[in-house]
Amino acid sequence: MVVLSDFSKKWGGKVANRIPEDKVDQVRSAVNIADFIGQYVQLKKAGKNLFGLCPFHEERTPSFSVNEQKQIFHCFSCGRGGNVFSFIMDLENLSFPEAVAKVADFGHIELPASYTAQAQVSAPKDQQQADLLKLYADSAKMYQHILVNTELGEPALDYLHQRGLDDQTIATFGIGYAPKNQLLLDFFKEHDIDYQLLRQSGLFIENQEGKLRDRFVDRVLFPIKDASGRVIAFSGRILTKSPNEPKYLNSPETKLFNKRDVLFNFDLARGAIRQRKAVVLFEGFMDVIAAYRAGIQNGVASMGTSLTNEQIYMLERVTDQLTICYDSDVPGQKATDRALKLLGDNSRLNLSVIQMPDGMDPDEYLRNAGQEKFVRVFADGKQTPTAFEMTYLRHDLNLQNTQDQLTYLGAVLQQLTKLSSSVEQDLYLNQLVQEFGLDKDDLKQQLRSLIGQQSVQQSSRQSPPPAPAPMTPPPIAVTGETSNSGPLSRVEKAERLLLYRLLHDHDVWLRVMAVAGFHFVHDPYQQILVYAEAYFKTHNQFDLANFTDFMADTSLQPVLTSLEFMDIASESSKEEVADLVNVIMNQQPLVEQINGKKAELTAAKQIGNHDLVQQLTLALIELYRKQQQVQQADNF
Ligand code: GTP
Ligand code: MN
Repeated sequence: MVVLSDFSKKWGGKVANRIPEDKVDQVRSAVNIADFIGQYVQLKKAGKNLFGLCPFHEERTPSFSVNEQKQIFHCFSCGRGGNVFSFIMDLENLSFPEAVAKVADFGHIELPASYTAQAQVSAPKDQQQADLLKLYADSAKMYQHILVNTELGEPALDYLHQRGLDDQTIATFGIGYAPKNQLLLDFFKEHDIDYQLLRQSGLFIENQEGKLRDRFVDRVLFPIKDASGRVIAFSGRILTKSPNEPKYLNSPETKLFNKRDVLFNFDLARGAIRQRKAVVLFEGFMDVIAAYRAGIQNGVASMGTSLTNEQIYMLERVTDQLTICYDSDVPGQKATDRALKLLGDNSRLNLSVIQMPDGMDPDEYLRNAGQEKFVRVFADGKQTPTAFEMTYLRHDLNLQNTQDQLTYLGAVLQQLTKLSSSVEQDLYLNQLVQEFGLDKDDLKQQLRSLIGQQSVQQSSRQSPPPAPAPMTPPPIAVTGETSNSGPLSRVEKAERLLLYRLLHDHDVWLRVMAVAGFHFVHDPYQQILVYAEAYFKTHNQFDLANFTDFMADTSLQPVLTSLEFMDIASESSKEEVADLVNVIMNQQPLVEQINGKKAELTAAKQIGNHDLVQQLTLALIELYRKQQQVQQADNF
């Protein structure tokens, strides 16, 4: 009985015992892994696979690969891999039922409430983090309730309505209100929430005696969410301007909230960013919300600070087009100039700029000019970075003045040196010729000499600019604990190929299983083999995605997946298989055999296969006996 309950904890709990296997299959086959992962990673076709930047670690050249045909993913650099469920389990720290629920949701497949209820119950990996998330979720609900349903919230609700936000928008963004008289602390005290947790949440201010009071008072609250849409902080806007108080007040940084990593609205915008293959970067929350109302739903904002590398990196993963739409007043233009330089130096994104007319911010312009005009600015008003700079560079110059003219021309030419397209350079040169009545050849000459100077400067610097990254798959890396990095040994190559054949070709399976004493040298392959034995007892055919789920041991999933990304002939011959078996069995010293059997025994115990346990124990005894004989022989 102990074994059984152990079994269901380790194995049945994770696999289809709770959610029936056919349901899991249904969810998996209804959703294309490329579409699902595409929400998180921008994928591009290269050969028969799709490639993108791995979401599990920092990288600049794509080594993360998705095979649509097999419905699996694999990172050639970090070795992670698996099917659609493993992907989201790994990425968001979810349990298996939670992962199934999430994928089902994406595929618009109804899962009976009992499964999803279970998903919520499943134990989170980090209890404190889970508690904090719950605290934030509850606070957001309470603040929203106060805004929408109570008399206390009326002034704030009026304010938001006046700013053009309807109830639908308020609900979509989960906007709330923290009233003048403090409420949150009492609310949590009533519910007996742990004092330390309240302290850590950043929702309260602590005085010298350790007494807490609400941080947010008389402010409209915008929940700040992580990329999965979980509330991790708030930003509160003051209702009426006050010289002594900041317009926006943010939660302090906590275990969950790091300003550098967060983009406002990224969770809601991601789908639209993918669809439109572009993102719009705004300055303020209200601008993002205004654009959203007007149907431009691919907008995000950084947290009131300039962009960070982390944020750039988040965006690079999902798109390669970015439009900056900051306020069009002078500070907004300065910020645009800064952002263009930052992005130009630190990203591969294609950039453009949109400016609202008359120095307005997007939210103001929508309210003043109406939706139709607002949307038209987005459709027709896109400028190239160069066009923006050519206007921006004028802002404190008087172009009637010759000195200023020269300054301006110098700055524009400097700008043009950055363009890689000579057609584009030509376009702007023509504009200068027209506006200032200059000779084009002179300008060209000037530009060429500037470019020459720059390349001299560059080559005298230490590091050359990084070469553009080709979208080609790097060589296959070793994954899991199969062997240390470096080229694979002959045995391991044989093991990988044979395991692949065993799984995919049942004739090979039957032939090799008939070889007495066969087992793999390296544990992971042997463990997969044991899982496969159990699998073939209940399944007639090998189905990769289904087997991945069956193999509850997630550390083996990447190993399995990596096999599928090998470049091998689709057909095997009898000779090939016999050779492989030979290589593996001959090169297998006794110690390795023993280790293999031990690992096999552990796996057999884990899946509760008593016959196999017995069989393996006998085999182990036999091996130990042989080992003793050999040692005795050595001693003579
Ligand atoms: P509204 O006045 O409500 O329309 O705000 P806005 O979105 O136009 O904001 P603004 O252009 O003044 O500022 C842009 C962003 O900077 C805001 O969304 C905030 O994230 C941030 N910000 C503005 N004022 C403050 C402040 O006083 N403190 C902090 N921490 N952030 C601020
Ligand atoms: Mn504004």
